[in-house]
Amino acid sequence: MTVLKWSDEFRIDEGPMDEIHVEFVDCLNVLGAAQGDAALPALDAFIAHTQRHFAEEEAWMAACEFPRVYCHSTQHESVLQVAREVRVRIAGGETTLAPLLAAAVAAWFRDHAATMDTMLAQHMAARGYAPHAEDALA
Ligand SMILES: [Fe+2]
Ligand SMILES: [Fe+2]
Repeated sequence: MTVLKWSDEFRIDEGPMDEIHVEFVDCLNVLGAAQGDAALPALDAFIAHTQRHFAEEEAWMAACEFPRVYCHSTQHESVLQVAREVRVRIAGGETTLAPLLAAAVAAWFRDHAATMDTMLAQHMAARGYAPHAEDALA
């Protein structure tokens, strides 16, 4: 089941944040379509992506002194905690939870991208901070 279709409404920075969000939506849709034995590997792939995705944004926050008051990383940690709790249940055989988790995370992402991620991208732009610019020069 496709739980979230990528569209222009999700574009935030025309750069690295959009690239990681495209990957996020792909992982989420694989999870949404996963049935039976496919549920656990799909969730593991989703968790692996999400750990990288959130760690990357949190590194950007630290690099450009994004105010902690916005609780951005707290939202990230909550999503990962729920995903890990659901993983225990899916590993125990409740594989039908995979599309339910994917749908819930899709609903969360719409709001998170429009608020937290957008504020972070605006803050980075205001600071003149371009993630990966140093990679491009390397
Ligand atoms: Fe994000
Ligand atoms: Fe985020």
